[in-house]
Amino acid sequence: MKILSIESSCDETAAAVVEDGRIVLSSVVASQVEEHRLYGGVVPEIASRRHAESISGVVKEALTQAELTLDDIDAIAVTFAPGLIGALLVGVNFAKGLSLATGKPLIPVHHLRSHIAANYITHVKLKPPFLCLVVSGGHSHIVMVEDYTKMKVIGETRDDAAGEAFDKAARTMGMPYPGGVELDKIAELGNERAYSLPHPTVADSPYDYSFSGLKTSVINLIHNAEQKGNTIIKEDLCASFRRAVVDCLTENLFRAADDLGVDTVVAAGGVSANTLLRRELARICTEKNMKLYVPRVSLCGDNAAMVGAQAYFEYMSGNVADYDLNAVATLPIDYR
Ligand code: KG4
Ligand code: ZN
Repeated sequence: MKILSIESSCDETAAAVVEDGRIVLSSVVASQVEEHRLYGGVVPEIASRRHAESISGVVKEALTQAELTLDDIDAIAVTFAPGLIGALLVGVNFAKGLSLATGKPLIPVHHLRSHIAANYITHVKLKPPFLCLVVSGGHSHIVMVEDYTKMKVIGETRDDAAGEAFDKAARTMGMPYPGGVELDKIAELGNERAYSLPHPTVADSPYDYSFSGLKTSVINLIHNAEQKGNTIIKEDLCASFRRAVVDCLTENLFRAADDLGVDTVVAAGGVSANTLLRRELARICTEKNMKLYVPRVSLCGDNAAMVGAQAYFEYMSGNVADYDLNAVATLPIDYR
């Protein structure tokens, strides 16, 4: 089954053709990041307008690269939640139009479920059940993936997402948006024990995260140093901050893995590209004799190939939308 998929939940306009949930026939991503960088973050109004301008070209290009026409496509899939509402609406309406014009089924896809599905492309034999750490710019979740479309949230952030914390810390250190990637690169050069930062936990919720305190500590540390005329060693602060975030992420994840008795751990989302997170997951999984799967780095960030992958399993479970499908800004991953 060949699915044409569309993603427009944030600042990438993307389209792909994916066969049977695992084989990517094409994947096109038009990023708006350069424009949003001027403002230090995503400007929702600009994102929606750029999606509207790019979407038809991106979809055409996905078909061209797959050497297919709309006649060869079996279904149209689209990210409908969660995300920036105006941005999502562009993809949803375009997909509805395509579905209506061609008579092909319309498959609604949850953005975080699609991040998880990036692993089905990278690891063609991977099947649920597994425990998944979903870490992106907007979410930090520990999810028990019982089946392709059946999941349970075990833990989540109470405030900032891990990606957001990386971006805000990076911004305070003068790096352009989104700073997570650059902070990661600079951290490779530093001493992670140079600065002592808190490892916040959430009382009585052993699997939940809280990153806002950690972010504030970095901001305070920088401001205090500036006031006293002390120099901050950027490499060391990046390394210490990255270590604190990764420790928080892995501590709760493996606490949950141990408590639930799972033997397979998966990572997903933009932050799963983080070098230290990948190294630590590999180290701990080897130590605990658990199997680990992470997406290939090119599939960690937002793309439509992952949407096409998840869409296949949604379709197989009977999840097909009517033409009244609407975009939804916030929706739990276990919505159905
Ligand atoms: O999943 P994603 O592409 O978009 C959302 O759904 O939010 O995640 C983007 C987030 C950004 O916060 C970005 O800074 C972060 O992922 N990110 C990283 C790395 N690569 C991307 N954070 C830390 N280290 C990285 N290597
Ligand atoms: Zn995402």
